[in-house]
Amino acid sequence: LLPSRPATPHSDMAEILPSLPLETRCPPFHLRLYKGFWQPEKVLVENIPAINAHFEPRPSDIFLASFPKSGTTWLKSLAFATLNRAVHSPFDVDHPLCRQNPHDCVRFLEAISFDEMEHEPHVLRSSPRVLATHLPYSMLPERIAGDGEGSMGRIVYICREPKDVLVSGWLFTKKTSSALGLDEQSYTLQEAFDLFCEGRCESLRRPGKVLFLKYEEMLREPASNLRKLAEFMGCKFSKEEEDGGLVDAIVELCSLHKLKSMEVNKNGCNSLAVRNEAYFRKGMAGDWSNHLTPEMAQKLDKLVEDALQGSGLDL
Ligand code: A3P
Repeated sequence: LLPSRPATPHSDMAEILPSLPLETRCPPFHLRLYKGFWQPEKVLVENIPAINAHFEPRPSDIFLASFPKSGTTWLKSLAFATLNRAVHSPFDVDHPLCRQNPHDCVRFLEAISFDEMEHEPHVLRSSPRVLATHLPYSMLPERIAGDGEGSMGRIVYICREPKDVLVSGWLFTKKTSSALGLDEQSYTLQEAFDLFCEGRCESLRRPGKVLFLKYEEMLREPASNLRKLAEFMGCKFSKEEEDGGLVDAIVELCSLHKLKSMEVNKNGCNSLAVRNEAYFRKGMAGDWSNHLTPEMAQKLDKLVEDALQGSGLDL
């Protein structure tokens, strides 16, 4: 999340795209460097202009923002189960999360097909709406990310130890790229490491409207982090719900072992055309030490430290 606002209207993107630095080594997309972030070409040329043209934010909207592989799937399932608990009890063996992958319960803002809006699931009709995004803060529409009174919605941002994000992303890309017919052996950890070292930033703007969650803290204390999330989303757990074990039931329903064991997540594909099983791996803190050399770890730690200096954030 970066504090700067884009100076270039996104509709001009198709024209300026060829002049932006190109990265072709990062399967499965071609990336372009824009405003300090590498983004898939399609996101810059199609998705961001579509969001700006068609998406009408509401004050009640909740955005789940994350860098890929930071715990997005988990956060989506927790937010969905919590917001919809009056309609779908987490004790229900037929809960939507038992039939659908979390990415089909909460959609990515940048993956919504605005041309077929009436066919989009409940996502755009429910209230409050909950949507996820991997877009950097500076690329969100002003009406969502702006500072002023007119800015809409609340943002939950989940972050994770960058070395685990790197390893998780590398293994995910290998797995999903081979499904797309790309050679997974050719995408080495060293290459992923070099690409990853090209940058990441966060910001503490709008503290009242942004909730920061840390993946590692959620692993340590899932229930208290879920309570924090529910309160922030405006649906605090009541005493009756607490006494009825609802918090623990949602934590259990959304746990890695539970979601991983669902048939839909073992053998299904989601609306992003990715095999669901690819989203569930170890889900632990510190798995990076099984993959990165001490030199790699040191270099990445230093980069992150430098990037976060003065931001008020630590990891
Ligand atoms: P690992 O690859 O380290 O196991 P994202 O959802 O942003 O794509 O992040 C994926 C990471 O979150 C993977 O980490 C995955 O195993 C982990 N994950 C997925 N579902 C989870 C859950 N319910 N609880 C905890 N971690 C989860």
